[in-house]
Amino acid sequence: MTTPGIRPLVAGNWKMNGTLAMAGALVSDINGRYRQAALKADLLLCPPFPYLAAVGGQLTGTGISLGAQDCHTGASGAHTGDVSAQMLADLGCRYVILGHSERRADHGESSALVAAKAKAALAAGLGAIICVGETEAQRNAGEEKKIVEYQIIDSIPAEATATNAVIAYEPVWAIGTGKTPTPADVEAMHRHIRALLVTRVPGGAGMRILYGGSVKPSNAAELMAVPEVNGALVGGASLKVEDFWAIAEGAAKSAA
Ligand code: 13P
Repeated sequence: MTTPGIRPLVAGNWKMNGTLAMAGALVSDINGRYRQAALKADLLLCPPFPYLAAVGGQLTGTGISLGAQDCHTGASGAHTGDVSAQMLADLGCRYVILGHSERRADHGESSALVAAKAKAALAAGLGAIICVGETEAQRNAGEEKKIVEYQIIDSIPAEATATNAVIAYEPVWAIGTGKTPTPADVEAMHRHIRALLVTRVPGGAGMRILYGGSVKPSNAAELMAVPEVNGALVGGASLKVEDFWAIAEGAAKSAA
């Protein structure tokens, strides 16, 4: 087990990819495999907003969870183009990904904003998957632990607990690049995050810490077996059923 007592979570972040037809085919394939597998891991699919209702319909009663990729800080109001956490909960979402590095970079999201979004998500009954991770320059400068530490301290709202929040460590330089940290580097960072969570979050010893960034079938078993890695946040490989399934099996095996 990578952390005794923690069941792995394997989440697919589809980002802004796919079509309605592709979503339907992908989810029906995953459902079919999940039904027959008795996997020792929880699965979560996070499609783009417009496909949430359709994918949620397909996932009803399967045991696989639905999640979104962002939400607003407010419950409702004049925020053209935004979506509230309560709306996501209405659609059957269990989780929402917050503070992904692509949102931090593309939309200038600060950790304070991420914390406010997470607070709104928790108030709506959603689980918050809070993303953190250093850039290549920050790692080259030896600052990765400090950067991630600040991001965690500033992005986690006071209401977070081990059961309603998840941390995803995603080094920015590993996202979509095919590059990954070594298992030793992943272990060092996840142990650092764990130590921080234990001191800052109720039940922090039992909070899930996912790894994300170029997780593939070829590296999943190795990465998922690293101590304090409690699952994966998967981007590109979550769009191919064989790849996503192989990663889920890798995570499940590490917890067996
Ligand atoms: P890739 O798996 O495509 O590197 O993306 C990781 C990610 O950003 C998941 O949120």
